Formats: sequence, C-alpha cells, structure tokens
Amino acid sequence: MFLQRCITPDCRAEYKLDERLYVCSRCGGLLEIDRAEDIAVDSASLRELWRTRRLSSAASDRSGVWRFREFLPFDENVQLVSLGEGNTPLYDAPRSAGYCRLPQLKLKHQGCNPTGSFKDTGMTTAVTQARKLGARVVVCASTGNTSASLAAYAARADLLCAIIVPSGQVSHAKLAQALDYGAKVLEIEGNFDSCMNAIRELAQHDSVYLVNSINPFRIEGQKTIAFELVEQLEWRVPDHLVVPGGNLGNSSAIGKGFRELFNSGLIDRQPKITVVQAVGAAPFARFYSQHDSSFANEEHPKTLASAIKIGAPVSWQKAWRAVRETGGSVITATEQEIADAKAMIGRDGIGCEPASATTVAGIRKLVGDGIIKGDETVVAVLTGHLLKDTDYVMKYHSQDLIAPDGERIASTFGNPVNRVNPVESILDMITE
Ligand code: F0G
Repeated sequence: MFLQRCITPDCRAEYKLDERLYVCSRCGGLLEIDRAEDIAVDSASLRELWRTRRLSSAASDRSGVWRFREFLPFDENVQLVSLGEGNTPLYDAPRSAGYCRLPQLKLKHQGCNPTGSFKDTGMTTAVTQARKLGARVVVCASTGNTSASLAAYAARADLLCAIIVPSGQVSHAKLAQALDYGAKVLEIEGNFDSCMNAIRELAQHDSVYLVNSINPFRIEGQKTIAFELVEQLEWRVPDHLVVPGGNLGNSSAIGKGFRELFNSGLIDRQPKITVVQAVGAAPFARFYSQHDSSFANEEHPKTLASAIKIGAPVSWQKAWRAVRETGGSVITATEQEIADAKAMIGRDGIGCEPASATTVAGIRKLVGDGIIKGDETVVAVLTGHLLKDTDYVMKYHSQDLIAPDGERIASTFGNPVNRVNPVESILDMITE
C-alpha cells in the first residue's frame, strides 16, 4: 500500500518500494514515500495502541520509531535494525524561555538517541531497508552525525560501511564513534558538499546503498519525531516548531510527519515550522527572503556549527514545502547568537551541540520581531548532544572561540575553569 513517488508536481512518477532509487529516474526530482490510497484511521484507538506499546518489551514496540509503524512503509514481519531509538525527552527549559522572553519553552532533545543525534530515528528505517534490499555496503557523506549513526546501525546489521567526511572539519567525538563502530572512514579535501557529490557518484554502483537524507526511507523514520512530540504533548499541537537547517532532511521529515498526522485526522492543525541556519551557511534563508528567485547554493559555507556547514542542501524543495504549508519561516543566527544560546540551554541542565542551539537563538529573534507571541506554545528540536563537540564548549567558556571571520566570540555566559591555590580560598570562590 506504500510506494515511492517523485515530488516534482508535473512528474509524480511512481515506483515500487523495492526499487533502489535515490531520485526520480524520469526527471531527477526528489522521491518521497506515499500511500497508494488514503486509509481511514480511527484516531482514538491508534493513539491508545501507540500508548500501550510503550509498556511492551518487544523491540518493535520499545523503539520510539517503530512504535508508530502503521505509518512506516514496511511489512509487519520485516527484520528490524534497531538500537532502541526515539523515546527522547521533551524538557521544560525555563532559563532558555526567559532568555527568549517567553513564559515557557520546550526542548525536544534528539541528542538523547543511541548515538547522540536525531539521525538514529532515520537510520533505523534506512538500514532496515538496506538489509531488505540485500545491500552489502552502506555509505554516506557526513558532517559527522550521520556517519556516527550509520556506522552503528551498519554494525548492528552486519553490513560493510564506508563514510566520506570533509578532512579536518568533523569533531573528534563524531569521528571516534564511526571508528569504534568499525566504519571505513574516508576523508576528502573540500567541504560536505564535495563529499555529497562524491557519494552520489559512488551510489550509481549496484553494490552500494546510499543512506543520506536524499534516501526517502531515512525521512520516514525521522518523521516520527513529530508523532512522538505530539503524543508527549497529549495530542496538543504547539503553535511553533523550530528546527536547525543544514542539508534540510530533518525539517522535511518533521514537516512530512505533521502533514500525515493532520491528513489522517490525528491532529487538527499543524505547527508553524521555522528553520534556522547559521548566517554563514544560509542558502535556504536567502531563498526564503527573496523567494521569487531560484535557489542558489552557497559556494563557501562557513560556521563553527560544523554539523550544518552545508551550502548545497539536497532536500530544500521538501523543506520549503513544510515551511510554506505551515506558514513558518526561515531565518539565520550569527555565530555569537548561536554560542550564547547554547550556553543558555546549558544553564537549563540540557547539553546540546552548536547546530542545535540555532533554534533558541532563532526563537529569541522571532519573539523580538513579534512573530512569536508571548502566549504561544513553542518547541525547539535539539538535534545533537553536547558531548558531540566539547572543543567548542571549552573554547567558549575560556574566551577562545574564534568565528570563521576571525572575530573572537564574546563569552557572554562564560564559565571558565578556575585554578585554586591555596585550598583555603575554595570556599570564598564558590560562595562569591
Ligand atoms: N543538527 C545536527 C546536530 C546535525 O548533525 C545536522 C546535520 C543538522 C542539525 C541539520 O539537519 O541536514 O537534516 O538539515 N548533519 C548531517 C550529518 C549533515 O552529516 O551529520 P539537516
């Protein structure tokens, strides 16, 4: 009952689920998974079924992705590749809320997934599909998190894995994960976009299966972030949902999730989806602000938020649809704003990586501009864990963080390590 369909409006070519494609073979457009026909959903019993599955000990019920399998394009008897992904916390963040001049703000922490980022929610479905298709080698290009996640899921599935990363631009924590999980790590000179070009060429080869977010089976898993979120909110839809944007797979996926929930009658409206990019890597924000023009890539993306240092986002058309349909927006945050927002999220006892903090930086601006009102409900999606990039954190707190343009980032909320000597002075220091 599911199929693959081209998203280009005047093409809409259809393909079976087991056709190994990444783009439409007729027009080169992006593909998405769709149902062959609409199905009637009994909202109350489906919500109850999903709730009771949380008490089960079966792997398919424990996973925060597979728990929603009525909306996933797999048969009941498919052999899952799962690490117990999803089920991530939705935190109240009062300090970050105050920083944004809001009475309340909720943070959906996708960094609490098994490999520390939201990628796991999509990797479980993509690697399950890879095994179903009989692939031997799975590959991706990455700024670090996709590769860490793929390496782990490939290890679980006993598949060979190769990742292509931009040399010297991936945090050690992310690289360490891929190495430990046994992936072949290949560095190339250039940026993420050059890696993506290389991998798309490689994926022409029959023995290789590509699992970047251009692969529609990745998007299917990631869309369940929307399902889990509204379930945690007792099926009340927030007014705004804010998400970082890099390659634009995640905003596309969350948009698809909300659209499907809405079309099935499980929710009665959709949140406004806003995507935030780092100011030096913001082709989508530029497109949004001049949206009568065509999409132009950013040749030399620059940001310390290395996860989203991307100039040619593959899924921009899907993300654009999510923003347009929900009445959201696309904005940017400066390096200073990202760094300060990240430290503020930290003060709530919640650790995220720089890319994730674009959300709180963006929300602060949207409130300042009157686009988010004080009485509206807002959820930010934190995409990666603080431990993914500790180098950045240490530099921020010791006034040593230098932006790509050479400017030093002010440690507005800096909390440097203190050397104490003699020991008697410790009490003075902690009570001052
Ligand atoms: N946040 C983090 C922590 C990420 O790792 C990424 C993307 C994004 C946000 C942006 O998500 O690409 O779906 O718009 N990381 C990819 C990677 C590119 O290779 O790990 P997106």
